Amino acid sequence: MQDAVEKWMAIVQKHGQSHVFQFWNRLSAEEQQQLAKQVQSIDFSQLASLFEGSEESVDWSELSNKAQAPDAIRLNDPNVAFSAKDAFDCGEQAIRQGKLGMILVAGGQGTRLGFDQPKGVFRIGPVSNRSLFSMHADSLRAATRRYGVSIPMFVMTSPATDAQTREYFAQNRNLGLSEEDLVTFCQGTMPAMDAASGKVLMESPSSIALSPDGHGGIVAALDRQGILQSAAARGIEHFFYAQVDNPLVRACDPTLIGYHLLSRSQMTTQVVSKRFAKEKVGNVVSIDGRTHIIEYSDLTEEAAQRTHPDGGLQLWAGNIAIHVLERSFLQQAAQKSDCLPFHRAMKSVPFLDHSGDVVKPKAPNAIKFERFVFDLLPLAERSIVVEGNPAEVFAPVKNAEGSATDTPTTTRNALVQQHRQWLEQAGISIEENAKVEINPNWALDAEEVRQKIQPPFHIQVDTYFA
Ligand code: UTP
Repeated sequence: MQDAVEKWMAIVQKHGQSHVFQFWNRLSAEEQQQLAKQVQSIDFSQLASLFEGSEESVDWSELSNKAQAPDAIRLNDPNVAFSAKDAFDCGEQAIRQGKLGMILVAGGQGTRLGFDQPKGVFRIGPVSNRSLFSMHADSLRAATRRYGVSIPMFVMTSPATDAQTREYFAQNRNLGLSEEDLVTFCQGTMPAMDAASGKVLMESPSSIALSPDGHGGIVAALDRQGILQSAAARGIEHFFYAQVDNPLVRACDPTLIGYHLLSRSQMTTQVVSKRFAKEKVGNVVSIDGRTHIIEYSDLTEEAAQRTHPDGGLQLWAGNIAIHVLERSFLQQAAQKSDCLPFHRAMKSVPFLDHSGDVVKPKAPNAIKFERFVFDLLPLAERSIVVEGNPAEVFAPVKNAEGSATDTPTTTRNALVQQHRQWLEQAGISIEENAKVEINPNWALDAEEVRQKIQPPFHIQVDTYFA
């Protein structure tokens, strides 16, 4: 051990990070081992160049100038290459054939929501009070029921959420998913660095402050843990990808999958039409024939404001982080460890100072490095963008109650609104203040609601159809 430690001390010293071992002599043997393990897992040369910024030299102004509207299947466009019906049928067929798996990314720290457990455990059901994990599991079980096939759910956690997520599933009988259909895997981490000095921050005397390496960490994590290989062995050819904080998403949406397959796309992205030019969403655009996402903060004002003669925004497509990914495309991407760039974000990260006291900064003090899954888009030779109706596909829980957007209340309202509409379309009347919620295992869509319940029927109180 001593030789190895001296080697690692020399490496951190070379990179000006000797403070990592400042408290070494005070640590127990177990703590020393933990710290040594962390140090070994970090690429200090890469960190140094990330801090210098040499890995992020993107000219956003040039990219904004070149950005065009993406190749897209738009809602209500009579000239689309494939009809929604064709797409739906094609998607259903592939699901029935067992070619789909679902990826749910749930490794984020949910700092904006301010919830001290994994976000997936957060209770969101407007009447049922089900958790986000439970909503996704029910949605997937409903697809399994409809198509008579097993569809595995691959849940990505991070060290910040892994243990609690596993415990939650275990305590709740995997939320109805069978052992072989629930695969939980943990993403990697990156150290947080002091923004002024470039020193790696220490969380405790024996631990570097590490945070999840972004949802883009999924490519390496899937590969490292053999999940792409085992999915291939199961016959899975495509993954439906969703984020844990959006309970409106329909697990393995057949129409989206169908468009993906009919277009022979390697990576498909569902988008919604932006409500205004500088809306805080990623802009899905086309640059030199490839699909890219430019964050709202990186898009120039001029490009954001560009309009068509009819007044519509030229760069209209907003990312909602629902994708379909070809397995072989992910496999190719995973061959190159640097296939996705790191992005820098300024965050407030508590740290240990030189005297060993914990400092809780009030303002952002640290740089975190994250990879984004949508950076896979430009790597795809074939990708397609499909517009969805926001009221049907997107209502994420991002912010704490009281914020202007994306709060637990706005999400619950969106769920009630969607289910109210399905019931009303079936001719059911509902008292104005009554909340309604439908479990997908009762009805997966408006059509199934119509088959389940006939008018006249009047709902007077909060009702959960399960
Ligand atoms: P967000 O970027 O919204 O982050 O993640 P977050 O962690 O949920 O919330 P904040 O920013 O700390 O407030 C979008 C999705 O990507 C997942 C999240 O769990 C969420 O489903 N994610 C994010 C990961 O799985 N890993 C990450 O490293 C980051």
